[in-house]
Amino acid sequence: MVVVLEIWVLVILGVSQVLAISQNFTCNSTDLTALKGFMDGLESSIDGWWPTNSLSISSFNCCNWVGINCNSSSGRIVGLGLPKKRLIGGLSDLISNLDQLTKLNLSNNFLTGPIPISLFHLAHLEVIDLSRNGFNGVFLISIHLPALQELDFSDNFFTGSIPGLCVNSSGIRVVKFVVNSLTGIIPSEFRNFSFLTHLCLASNSLSGAISEFLFWLPRELDLQDNMFNSIGGPVSLDVSCNRLSGNLPDFFVACSIERKREGGDATAAKGAEPPQVTSIEKFDTTWH
Ligand SMILES: *[C@@H]1O[C@H](CO)[C@@H](O)[C@H](O)[C@H]1NC(C)=O
Ligand SMILES: *[C@@H]1O[C@H](CO)[C@@H](O)[C@H](O)[C@H]1NC(C)=O
Ligand SMILES: *[C@@H]1O[C@H](CO)[C@@H](O)[C@H](O)[C@H]1NC(C)=O
Ligand SMILES: *[C@@H]1O[C@H](CO)[C@@H](O)[C@H](O)[C@H]1NC(C)=O
Ligand SMILES: *[C@@H]1O[C@H](CO)[C@@H](O)[C@H](O)[C@H]1NC(C)=O
Ligand SMILES: *[C@@H]1O[C@H](CO)[C@@H](O)[C@H](O)[C@H]1NC(C)=O
Repeated sequence: MVVVLEIWVLVILGVSQVLAISQNFTCNSTDLTALKGFMDGLESSIDGWWPTNSLSISSFNCCNWVGINCNSSSGRIVGLGLPKKRLIGGLSDLISNLDQLTKLNLSNNFLTGPIPISLFHLAHLEVIDLSRNGFNGVFLISIHLPALQELDFSDNFFTGSIPGLCVNSSGIRVVKFVVNSLTGIIPSEFRNFSFLTHLCLASNSLSGAISEFLFWLPRELDLQDNMFNSIGGPVSLDVSCNRLSGNLPDFFVACSIERKREGGDATAAKGAEPPQVTSIEKFDTTWH
């Protein structure tokens, strides 16, 4: 009887010790709950998260788990990066409880379903890369991410129009929606983002005019394989595989153009080539 009692005391002591340790070494409970929600949304597991048989005390701290970065002074999660981890399932709404998150990279997985709207309200989010997944759905609201710098939603199944960005996302540099099924026009509010250097919208079903303001973008503008029907003036232009017809605008004379990729139905635009093409560096309208 005494022996049995001693064993129970030992067991209880042991349990309370583990609890004390895990309480001390766990990360912020708000973040931990968010991670739990994120993981519950997945059908696959993440190696090394919630270790059940680990003897190392530090492994109880989610800040030490694979793919997680914490701010060392606040202890809050600021980065979640699990690219190419064969993740399967949906993206839980609870992920947006990671309210200090600055970088989210879940590219190259098998994630499906819509993106929770709450993710578009994270005040500190700077980089969001959800490219190469199976996400779908329509963007019903504008993206309200004031700290946003890079947004990559390429290679998914998004439909509907390009989402608006809030005016406060004035530091945005990169927007990529390549290879989706987006329709409609390029929102004119992009005109206001003076740091935007990469706008990649190739391989969608976008239509309307390619407005002149797009050519002020200094570095990369990818619009090939869409359904645009007129051009507004350029720096580096790829408009192959569209429905351009009629006269090419005067800017072909004034500016130098580089057609980065050839192909597409260039025959329609060919006859309209202006008479003096003087300063064009490369202009190839051949059909490959
Ligand atoms: C856990 O925290 C308590 C109080 O904050 C402290 O007394 C104890 O030493 C800590 N335990 C470990 C294992 O650090
Ligand atoms: C977790 O972070 C929140 C928000 O910063 C804070 O209020 C809370 O005290 C933190 N919890 C712990 C256990 O540190
Ligand atoms: C880390 O958190 C502290 C306190 O919340 C904050 O002052 C600091 O700017 C953060 N550092 C980074 C790199 O975000
Ligand atoms: C996301 O991770 C992949 C793989 O490591 C990397 O190639 C990509 O550049 C990252 N995305 C961003 C926006 O940093
Ligand atoms: C933009 O920032 C200003 C000042 O910080 C704020 O008053 C306004 O509500 C913000 N607008 C949006 C759409 O977030
Ligand atoms: C650009 O910003 C100005 C002032 O911030 C605003 O009045 C205008 O409506 C914006 N234009 C677009 C197209 O969003």
